[in-house]
Amino acid sequence: MKNNLEDYLKSKKETVDAALESYLPGVSSVPPIIFESVRYSVFAGGKRLRPILCLASAEAVGGKAEAVLPAACALEMIHTYSLIHDDLPAMDDDDYRRGKPTNHRVFGEAVAILAGDALLTEAFHLISSRELFKGARVESILRVIHELSQASGYFGMVGGQVVDIQSEGQTVGEETLYFIHTHKTGALITAAVRTGAILAGATEEQLHALSQYGRDLGLAFQVADDILNVEGNREALGKETGSDTRLKKVTFPTVMGLEASRQKARELVAHALTHLGSFDEKAEPLRGIARYTIERKS
Ligand code: IPE
Ligand code: IPE
Ligand code: MG
Ligand code: MG
Repeated sequence: MKNNLEDYLKSKKETVDAALESYLPGVSSVPPIIFESVRYSVFAGGKRLRPILCLASAEAVGGKAEAVLPAACALEMIHTYSLIHDDLPAMDDDDYRRGKPTNHRVFGEAVAILAGDALLTEAFHLISSRELFKGARVESILRVIHELSQASGYFGMVGGQVVDIQSEGQTVGEETLYFIHTHKTGALITAAVRTGAILAGATEEQLHALSQYGRDLGLAFQVADDILNVEGNREALGKETGSDTRLKKVTFPTVMGLEASRQKARELVAHALTHLGSFDEKAEPLRGIARYTIERKS
């Protein structure tokens, strides 16, 4: 099964990368610097977890991955924007991301901010390009745009990022910790799972189950990110370790310790899997991804 998942992730990553290549303008566009900057971060690497979840979720409800590709790429564009801004000196002040110097280290802060702005905005241009979707209903596309914008905005990722930054150096309770993680990371991951399912014509019952799966998975993913920041390998991760301690971030390891965090991540994944109980073998990649989330080294 493990090898099956590896093959699945590799093949879907290739599909996503090829689609991103086809959607993103080349560097001969004007002004070149913004296209260079955007491409630098999008193609620096990255696991493509959110777009792959979108494709896997579409397949889990009997749809075709190809039919939801524009939405999958929009998710990756929003995610990449969030990383570029997350690394800025005013935020986490990181120099290294996806195995390369961060965007602002190469292009300067102004262009990095604008590259993030462009990726966020253009993600919605892409996902509202009706002609690129094969077979999705217009109402489904609209619903996805409505949800994805909320998941990315002040009630979602941005809200989580605000509390993450504001909580640096503070002593906060578990409620705040959960708020940060479910918003800064969980919201987009849940949206990725829902997006694929909605566009593929999932029933409301399927959608409900997949949302619950997405919520548990999204939280588990950020708990694993916190753990990797403590005990991960810089080269494998492609980003610095130890930065959460330097910035006095509120994380699962700082609030409950490493062992309890590992246990929490395992419980969340086990719980995520229970929500897929009524799905057949087409949901096997979603099951594999859940397990991989906490076993990953990068
Ligand atoms: C890193 O996300 C930031 C978080 C929200 C935890 P990923 O671990 O998915 O980063 P890439 O896309 O593979 O670089
Ligand atoms: C990233 O959270 C969340 C977003 C980018 C929205 P972190 O700051 O914890 O992630 P890394 O460790 O820099 O990837
Ligand atoms: Mg951060
Ligand atoms: Mg960060």
